[in-house]
Amino acid sequence: MEIDVFTLFPDAFGWFERQRHVTNAIARGHRLGYVNYRDHTPLNAGQVDDMPFGGGAGMVLRVDVVEAALRARYGVDPVSLAADRRVIALTPSGRLLDDSFVDELAREQQLTLLCGRYEGFDQRVLDHFVSDELSIGRYVLAGGELAAMVVCDAVLRKLPGSLGHEHSVLEESFSQALEGAPEYPHYTRPAEHRGWEVPEVLLSGHHAKIRQWRRDQSRARAASAQPGDTEPPGGPLP
Ligand code: 6GU
Repeated sequence: MEIDVFTLFPDAFGWFERQRHVTNAIARGHRLGYVNYRDHTPLNAGQVDDMPFGGGAGMVLRVDVVEAALRARYGVDPVSLAADRRVIALTPSGRLLDDSFVDELAREQQLTLLCGRYEGFDQRVLDHFVSDELSIGRYVLAGGELAAMVVCDAVLRKLPGSLGHEHSVLEESFSQALEGAPEYPHYTRPAEHRGWEVPEVLLSGHHAKIRQWRRDQSRARAASAQPGDTEPPGGPLP
């Protein structure tokens, strides 16, 4: 997979790139690249944003600047780009990221992530250059960079070989193997700490019983999920 992140702050990704599952993915031929809008702006003095028409607080990332950056990277009119590849704008009001959205993205050969800053994108970026709008939750971040790292983290760890043991991706919280339920609890040594004991069955060596216990735990957690965990955006339906 090849992921391009468009951002004003490529340096923000330094720590992320050093994480083991990311270095593993890159060593296996996957690629993470960055395009700084500011390097491609057609405006003077590195300008990339502007005041909103109609007034109001904050600054808006300009459509001509985003177009120039996309053209510079892909060499085509960005209007035609979204037919070839997922071009994803990171916006607080976009489609909520969840495990099935991550699976969908992990099946792509190429992804483009557009980070906004300030008040966000000129609407024409979203209307004409983008295939998807993605949000990591219903709150507002100062920019899309943290959200882009969340997307890359969640997607890269699904790719074969990046975690080191494939099993952990198949049977994890919200996966189909667990029927979309949260994962079962995990324990490690010591078997007892301050009188807090590890469930007996996990020490029994009885694999069928352990499997059954884990399924039961996972289902019980699903049944007691917080109200709101599975509600549609905007809260409960009336
Ligand atoms: Cl993707 N971007 C911003 N700026 N804020 C967010 C978000 C994205 N997802 C949740 N909040």
